[in-house]
Amino acid sequence: MKLMVVGGGGREHAIIKSLKKNKTITEIFALPGNGGIAEDATCVDIGAKELDGIVQFAKENAIDFAVVAPDDPLVLGAVDALEAIGVPCFGPNKAAAIIEGSKVFSKNLMKQYGIPTAAYEVFTDAASALAYLETAPMPTVIKADGLALGKGVIIAQNLAEAKDAVKAIMSDKKFGDSGNQIVIEEFLTGPEVSVLSFTDGKTVVPMVSSMDHKRALDGDEGLNTGGMGTIAPNPYYTKDMDKRCMEEIFLPTMHAMNAEGRTFKGCLYFGLMLTPNGPKVIEYNCRFGDPETQVVLPLLESDLLTIMQACANGTLADTEVKFFAGSACCVVMASKGYPEAYEKGYEITMDAGIDGEVYIAGAKLDGGKLLTNGGRVLGVVATAETLEGAIEKAYAQVEKVHFDNAFYRRDIGQRALRANKE
Ligand code: AMP
Ligand code: GLY
Repeated sequence: MKLMVVGGGGREHAIIKSLKKNKTITEIFALPGNGGIAEDATCVDIGAKELDGIVQFAKENAIDFAVVAPDDPLVLGAVDALEAIGVPCFGPNKAAAIIEGSKVFSKNLMKQYGIPTAAYEVFTDAASALAYLETAPMPTVIKADGLALGKGVIIAQNLAEAKDAVKAIMSDKKFGDSGNQIVIEEFLTGPEVSVLSFTDGKTVVPMVSSMDHKRALDGDEGLNTGGMGTIAPNPYYTKDMDKRCMEEIFLPTMHAMNAEGRTFKGCLYFGLMLTPNGPKVIEYNCRFGDPETQVVLPLLESDLLTIMQACANGTLADTEVKFFAGSACCVVMASKGYPEAYEKGYEITMDAGIDGEVYIAGAKLDGGKLLTNGGRVLGVVATAETLEGAIEKAYAQVEKVHFDNAFYRRDIGQRALRANKE
């Protein structure tokens, strides 16, 4: 089997390493991959958004199966384009990827089908949004409709901040056309849980739950980032909660998408908040989370390629999806300054004997050396029987990875550990 994985971050590195356990795979191409992924796949210099290039490459190289990992190509229709030339894919088509591509779509879907989410209003012009804010309860949450590199959500503490957010998104077009419409929604509280699921449109199978750490600094301070670390499973997400979410959220979402003629196949990501009034959907993603994937896939006991193929061909109900009982922790090592300006080009070295995985996110090869080339540089992942053990082990491996200007959070998993005591 010849595989193609579209994307080039830590998530894709984790997917490729997991896929490689299947010995029927003879070659994996990563488009574009990165300097670290090059250890595990053949990197091809075609960007994840270059649909024509991706299709041409698949055709010329007789690709048997494609995994499209990032949101952009999915929302642009990469799966439709590949399926049109007969390449089976893991990932939703364009019609289904809109569940992440448009917040207005996903909010309206939830309202129409009774799926619990924050109360909201949609606005297509700044003047009516500003007028609405005058009497809206604070804090409030303002979301650009379209994709915005994970930065399109602003939590405004007061009226002035809320107005600034509306002006930045709608008038100054901070996120371009993604801000043509906005959602203003109720501020919810409670622990957050990420639940990634496999689905073929008929069956939905949740993976082990996880918890992201989005803020840059310890104690959940500092700016929002793409994610500074993760743990799995998430202790707030109990068996009872899983049952409730299946009934109230997962199955209703799958059925709603079918009813809309937008059958979703691939990884459907539920960003949940466990509020005092029950679990509610904060966001849907049409893909694996980053860095959630880095803790979820090392706990997957079953064969990833088999599951992905089952999602594509509608046989997920007959496919084993099993996870190990232990826990995992991922500590992201970033470049100092991230998520704002940072320097690149520092050599990454690792001591021998790393007990775990190092998934490379932002690095390039230069004369045989691995150099930092992004804000989030890599994720160090360890698994253990207990969460405490996984955290301790992950931080011990972090000590063995070196590059100048590295920074990372010291408290990944601490909130989850406290959950056991709440
Ligand atoms: P996103 O970029 O969509 O992942 O959202 C960023 C973060 O904003 C989420 O992880 C939540 O912590 C927070 N958030 C989004 N919507 C709400 C809401 N309605 N109430 C409270 N926090 C929210
Ligand atoms: N870690 C959040 C996301 O992938 O959107």
